[in-house]
Amino acid sequence: MIAIGCDHAGCDMKKAIIDALSEKGLECKDMGCNGERCDYPVIAEAVCGEIISGSCEKGILVCGTGIGMSIAANKIRGIRAAHCSDSFSARYTRLHNDSNVLCLGARILGEGLALELVDIFLSTDFEGGRHQKRVDLIKELENKNN
Ligand code: RB5
Repeated sequence: MIAIGCDHAGCDMKKAIIDALSEKGLECKDMGCNGERCDYPVIAEAVCGEIISGSCEKGILVCGTGIGMSIAANKIRGIRAAHCSDSFSARYTRLHNDSNVLCLGARILGEGLALELVDIFLSTDFEGGRHQKRVDLIKELENKNN
């Protein structure tokens, strides 16, 4: 199950992602918003909460730029949110950072590219090995700066 959320700038893109994943048999838990003007940190917290609780394995957040969502999501312990606008980043943030949230900018990306980034992000596994130590160091940073 994938947790997904957007602010008012990202609703059309969120719907396109939900529809595309549903066609592939992947279910999304939609944490809002539903078109009304809203504050992206609230939605980021709701989506990330699903991951931290273990209800969802990964999350997708969409706002105008993807930046506000990524800043907010990365304040939450255990979340490694990647703001991606290209396929190389979407692939390598999974391979090397074990990112658990993908942040997309609906005012930047076309729908085709956004769907491709989602596909890559969800289908790429963490490489582990030397990268595990670095992810562990990120966790240490969280503990030092709580
Ligand atoms: C909303 O207008 C906009 O600020 C938001 O979607 C996002 O781009 C913030 O980073």
